[in-house]
Amino acid sequence: MRKCIVASIPELVTIRRATSADADALSESRFRFRSEVNAAGPLSEGTPLEARASFIARATRMLADHLDGGRWFAWLAEHEERVAGHVWLQLIDKLPNPMLDEGELLGYLTSFYVEPQLRGRRVGTRLIDALEVFAADSGVEKIVIVGATPLSRSLYARRGYVSTPDLLEKRPSRR
Ligand SMILES: CC(C)(COP(=O)(O)OP(=O)(O)OC[C@H]1O[C@@H](n2cnc3c(N)ncnc32)[C@H](O)[C@@H]1OP(=O)(O)O)[C@@H](O)C(=O)NCCC(=O)NCCS
Repeated sequence: MRKCIVASIPELVTIRRATSADADALSESRFRFRSEVNAAGPLSEGTPLEARASFIARATRMLADHLDGGRWFAWLAEHEERVAGHVWLQLIDKLPNPMLDEGELLGYLTSFYVEPQLRGRRVGTRLIDALEVFAADSGVEKIVIVGATPLSRSLYARRGYVSTPDLLEKRPSRR
């Protein structure tokens, strides 16, 4: 009888900080993320998606520049030598302030994604753990998320992310 070796999936998933050499794989992963979220969301019906090849070419250049620019950081989950999840953080400067205990950096957490077959095994948790350690070490005062998906809210809430009345938004109208 053939011997079947079973390894638990989380041990086979490596979390690491991305470099600009990962921009192509991160673009592919980002395309999978947005295609999936858009297909599940209220905008799905009739919303045109950019062609995959054109998106990947454009996004790869942009993400490589972001990762070399010193303000954007990404962590990726590697499984079987491919990118199976990612999360991004942009450091946003606040203006200098004289309050000694008030930080001067915000962190914008965005594009949090784990492929469906790996979900529910703490891969997402490990990605956010890495991001939060980096944010704390960088002196980030607050991490902000814009547009959390409904299903991800329980994960964020468990980690201490709260809705706040301080955050206002407006879509500027075109003239
Ligand atoms: C959110 C996401 C990255 C979490 O990755 P994960 O590896 O499954 O996370 P973990 O195993 O560490 O934690 C599981 C938690 O993820 C959340 N979750 C589970 N399925 C989800 C789904 N389809 N979509 C969003 N969040 C989900 C739940 O909060 C779950 O906690 P619960 O089991 O107590 O309900 C992953 O589910 C995903 O990619 N979802 C689709 C994209 C998305 O919604 N991203 C968030 C953008 S703000």
